[in-house]
Amino acid sequence: MSAQALEIITPRLRLWLPDPSRAACVLRYFDRNRRHLEVWEPARPLDFYTADFWEKRLAENREDAEEGRCLRYFLELRSDPATPIVGAVNFTNVIRGAFRACHLGYSLAERWQGQGLMHEALEGALPAAFARLELHRVMANYQPRNERSGRLLERLGFAREGYAKDYLFIDGAWRDHVLTALVRTS
Ligand SMILES: CC(C)(COP(=O)(O)OP(=O)(O)OC[C@H]1O[C@@H](n2cnc3c(N)ncnc32)[C@H](O)[C@@H]1OP(=O)(O)O)[C@@H](O)C(=O)NCCC(=O)NCCS
Repeated sequence: MSAQALEIITPRLRLWLPDPSRAACVLRYFDRNRRHLEVWEPARPLDFYTADFWEKRLAENREDAEEGRCLRYFLELRSDPATPIVGAVNFTNVIRGAFRACHLGYSLAERWQGQGLMHEALEGALPAAFARLELHRVMANYQPRNERSGRLLERLGFAREGYAKDYLFIDGAWRDHVLTALVRTS
């Protein structure tokens, strides 16, 4: 995999794979946004909120990206590289063969929502992921009450493909999800 896919520059953002020395910065992002994110995302491993966890995970992220197993980007504001990380975009569960698909997940710091930043991040990241992971389909699923996430996916061209009852265990209960996907036509 070329280094090109490992750093994406958009008008306001830099998406990249931090090295393990940035573990504290990544941890701060998840710690500060803990409640904001836990409502929408599956439960974290017990050691998730530790620097040790992130040192290991960031090293694995780089290996996984090199091997084409997944792409886990973090987002920083180009106007202020000293600001902490403001979000994350993950292309995971890559399946090859006749499927060539993966799941997309994303999150943005609470205070930076509502400015089109995730839309901008995904406009940059999706073509890179399709190309570098040689994908045909990117799947993204959201809880029906997460209207902001639903609108974001719709604006990016994701099509609704179904509705799954009790799809993921999140924030103490099994939650229904709307299933969507973006399919490469060429
Ligand atoms: C879902 C989430 C990533 C959306 O991030 P975001 O940056 O606010 O999303 P968008 O890029 O779509 O921008 C949202 C709003 O900014 C507005 N906006 C302002 N300037 C804009 C611009 N230049 N371009 C696009 N939208 C812009 C849009 O009108 C949009 O409004 P809407 O949400 O009322 O439709 C964020 O709310 C989040 O992290 N939520 C918690 C975690 C989560 O839900 N993860 C997904 C689980 S499925």
